Amino acid sequence: MTLAGKHILLIISGGIAAYKSIHLIRLIQKAGGTVQAILTEGATHFVSPLTIATLCGRPALTDLFDLTRETEIGHIELSRSADLIVVAPATAHILARMANGLADDLATTCLLATTTPILAAPAMNVRMWEAASTRRNIELLREDGVAFVGPDAGDMACGEFGPGRLAEPEEIFAAIADHFARSRAPRPLEGRTAVVTSGPTREPIDPVRYISNASSGRQGTAIAEALAALGARVKFITGPAEYARPAGCEIVPVETALEMKAAVDAALPAEIAIFTAAVADWRITAPSDVKVKKDAAATPPTLEFTPNPDILASVAQLPAGQRPSLVIGFAAETGNLETQAREKLARKGCDWLLANDVSPGTGIFGGSDTHIVFLDAAGSEDWGPLSKTAVAARLAERIAVRLSSEA
Ligand code: CTP
Repeated sequence: MTLAGKHILLIISGGIAAYKSIHLIRLIQKAGGTVQAILTEGATHFVSPLTIATLCGRPALTDLFDLTRETEIGHIELSRSADLIVVAPATAHILARMANGLADDLATTCLLATTTPILAAPAMNVRMWEAASTRRNIELLREDGVAFVGPDAGDMACGEFGPGRLAEPEEIFAAIADHFARSRAPRPLEGRTAVVTSGPTREPIDPVRYISNASSGRQGTAIAEALAALGARVKFITGPAEYARPAGCEIVPVETALEMKAAVDAALPAEIAIFTAAVADWRITAPSDVKVKKDAAATPPTLEFTPNPDILASVAQLPAGQRPSLVIGFAAETGNLETQAREKLARKGCDWLLANDVSPGTGIFGGSDTHIVFLDAAGSEDWGPLSKTAVAARLAERIAVRLSSEA
């Protein structure tokens, strides 16, 4: 893998693993890349700026208030001229500062001022890695688009065992190479627009109770991310789900089926529409404005239901000109998979249907793996057992092929 012409800004923060950055610099250079290093004050206690500077062939920067350097380069320029910023090792402290937008030294000022992609390789004690605050910070940083490599699990310098050990330099190098490989990858859906529904809906009974289902939003999230990775502009309309933040997508949170339908209508026109949401088929006809009290009635309350609109069918049956070029549905069945799915494809009027058996015991509903049977007017294909991420990648590729053949 070559990194020829690639310039990496390497931020070394203060942990015992800082010495591994020396090997990482060597690997980047061997692949043809150049490295500018910044050491936090803590890092200088673990690794010498002189060693790093000698290796990199340029000064290792340490202090925001080095005014000569500031006038010569400037932290804004420093952070933006890099093709990738790598924070390795990334301590719990620097991750917390990044997650909260602090800029109290040169490293964090560069990280805040940049528009360059950031890859972080965390390294810390296992308890620190598992601390609620670190979990929150990692989650926030992921949402902000920061990529992570590691940490690995193993014996730690502090004598404990578990996740928190800095990924090996070879692994960090592979993540850097992978980043550039992906950014060079073709983006066949560039400029295309897509709408994806995902997750469950919630139908209120009263202000504190609702009817819903166990959809995790995993498949919808994976599909939205796969489309975005190929360049599509994705509007992601999600019910309250565990997985509801696909990277690189516009996220529209909704609760009820009626809200989901309104959000889909507002998101059209789009060229691609994919319906992965597990929409409640019925809503409570007259939800109570106040909490239903158990003592108010002698008998348990009876709920009266009204059918919800079929969002997929309403879009699939739009007149030509308003209808997306490709309308794709999912079918969750618990028996007679192909017969039921074939009937659903025809009834709803979608172009493609991805059917899966969600019977108890399959672990598909809410799980990370699935087993798809793909149907279109021409026939059906059994995709076999796959992860939901693999299904998403395969579907996105197929969409790209189909749309390019139409263009
Ligand atoms: N769907 C939708 N709006 C609804 C119900 C379903 O958009 N009100 C979409 C789902 O997102 C999915 C497809 O329709 O893409 C099939 O959903 P599924 O729950 O399998 O089927 P249902 O339409 O609910 O039919 P049935 O209950 O008979 O299985």
